[in-house]
Amino acid sequence: MLVSFDEVLSLADKGGFAIPAFNVYNMETVMGIISAAEELRAPVILQFYSRLAANEEGYYLSPIILAAAKKATVPVCFHLDHGASDKEVMRAIRYGATGIMIDASTKPIEENIAITKQIVELCGYNGIQVEGEIGHVGSAANEDNLSASTTVEEATAFAEGSGVRALAVMVGTAHGHYKKAPKLDIDRIAEIHAANPKVSLVLHGGSGVPDDQIQAAVKAGIRKINFGTDVCYSFLDKVFETSRSLIAIDLFMKDSIQNVKAFAEEKIKLLGADGKAE
Ligand code: G3H
Ligand code: ZN
Repeated sequence: MLVSFDEVLSLADKGGFAIPAFNVYNMETVMGIISAAEELRAPVILQFYSRLAANEEGYYLSPIILAAAKKATVPVCFHLDHGASDKEVMRAIRYGATGIMIDASTKPIEENIAITKQIVELCGYNGIQVEGEIGHVGSAANEDNLSASTTVEEATAFAEGSGVRALAVMVGTAHGHYKKAPKLDIDRIAEIHAANPKVSLVLHGGSGVPDDQIQAAVKAGIRKINFGTDVCYSFLDKVFETSRSLIAIDLFMKDSIQNVKAFAEEKIKLLGADGKAE
């Protein structure tokens, strides 16, 4: 069933686990993830990057996400990831998103709060809750990006000033594949969580983070974890392995859907989201 951002986050807050948020790109990635969620009775978030809302892809992909969510017997939230501006936010709402992220994390904190607050108000008119980001999560290609930069004071000021439902924090992760395994600041997560019990903390850059660190982060208070790069690899690795003798595209894609499903199942279990749909 299609549910609000608040609904999936509340399940995680109450259950002490993290909602897996998978970036999707096409029908096949949606099918693999929904199939894993159904099989493991897990609530999930299907999200797409802001650029898809800015160009034509989001227009075609949104009805697929909505159809999958509405058919599912587990809670599914349709979320805009890293919303860049009003334009993408408005489009995502028109496309039927039930959760919105606005990312103004490269701006000074006062500006970030002001931009995010405005989006919280706008989304509030539509009954949609918002994720913001404080302390920029950068690219894993740059190893200088990997130290925790969100302080407890900043996180608290941002959460209170903006009114967000979920808060993405920079605690040692980055986007893309890491050159060497990251080391998360678990104490910082626990401190930010203790100071901000009303917001759900979000970990971006989930691909390539060692399992023990993911589990420690969840234990310390992370309630949503994003996986993007490894969704792509789980899909594309199998596409490149699949025999060219399969011409019918639906048949050609079957193994890739299964590979996405297997990847999603592994992360659902790792985050403790299995069996949490009810
Ligand atoms: O917003 C999306 C994520 O933070 C994904 O990061 O591609 O490193 O898994 P990742
Ligand atoms: Zn991210």
